[in-house]
Amino acid sequence: MVDTTRVVKEIQVKYKIIGRTEELRQIVLAHAVGKNILLEGNVGVGKTRLAKAVAKYHGSNDSNFFRVDCSEELLPHNLVGYFEPPLVIVKGYIEDSYKYGPLALAMMNGGCLFINEINRMPESTQNSLLTSLDEGILEISKLKTIKAHKDFFVMATQNPAAHVGVTVLGEALKDRFIWINLNYQNPEEETLIIKQEANLNSGNANKIAIISQNIIQVTRESTSIRRGSSIRGAIDLATLINQYDNNNSTKNWVEAAVMALYNKIELEDGLTQSKNEIITNIVLTVLNKSDFQ
Ligand SMILES: Nc1ncnc2c1ncn2[C@@H]1O[C@H](COP(=O)(O)OP(=O)(O)O)[C@@H](O)[C@H]1O
Ligand SMILES: [Mg+2]
Repeated sequence: MVDTTRVVKEIQVKYKIIGRTEELRQIVLAHAVGKNILLEGNVGVGKTRLAKAVAKYHGSNDSNFFRVDCSEELLPHNLVGYFEPPLVIVKGYIEDSYKYGPLALAMMNGGCLFINEINRMPESTQNSLLTSLDEGILEISKLKTIKAHKDFFVMATQNPAAHVGVTVLGEALKDRFIWINLNYQNPEEETLIIKQEANLNSGNANKIAIISQNIIQVTRESTSIRRGSSIRGAIDLATLINQYDNNNSTKNWVEAAVMALYNKIELEDGLTQSKNEIITNIVLTVLNKSDFQ
């Protein structure tokens, strides 16, 4: 049996992952028994960060980590591979004429196939994954049948189904994944992430991180805001404010917050206030509460 506690700790230290002990334990466990892993959570909860850390820990490097970013345009041949017509004319249907896609390469090399935002993948493309996922077999017509290397594994991410602009993952594909859910981390952990990711190390580091975290926290709780900011908003805000000569100025905080958060929050319909005003009010409220200055 795998010593999950030790492995989780090593992943956290080596890849500077703050917290996520429970979720990492689940991922490590699922990987140890050879399951495909689906990480679900809102934008910015750390899905990509965790997946990459786990893949690297298990020996993936640049040459055997295969990443696919999904969109509605992703076709089966983008995953599996295809014959290049000019080469087929000259050489025929042989391996030299074939360009392997990330799925085939990961299976042959024994690497990690990382499928980002898998729920954006069209259903026809989803189907091309099925036999690889549960039998470790991929049939390429006119060429060969690939049998997966023992170290081949798949990690995928998706935003929650309720998310705008997102389709639902097909039943058949869903059935082949172990599901691991990621919620927002607690404020203390988020503050540590902000400090680390925004490279804060001045005397003001703690204060900047705490205020930035408080601000995004309020965007998530505000009744005027449908979708609040992820940790990315706070990282951007902290990075920006750290560059100002005076990061004790309310005006500077408002300016940086509008830049950092404007595109990361979504307002409810029918409000009389503008987004600028809403962000400004949140910043003022948070600064007033903290013993600012
Ligand atoms: N637990 C964590 N430890 C360290 N950094 C984190 C953690 N969670 C998220 N981050 C950082 O927050 C940002 C968003 O994470 P990311 O993995 O890109 O989110 P997602 O893929 O869910 O949208 C990245 O800069 C990432 O490095
Ligand atoms: Mg991501």
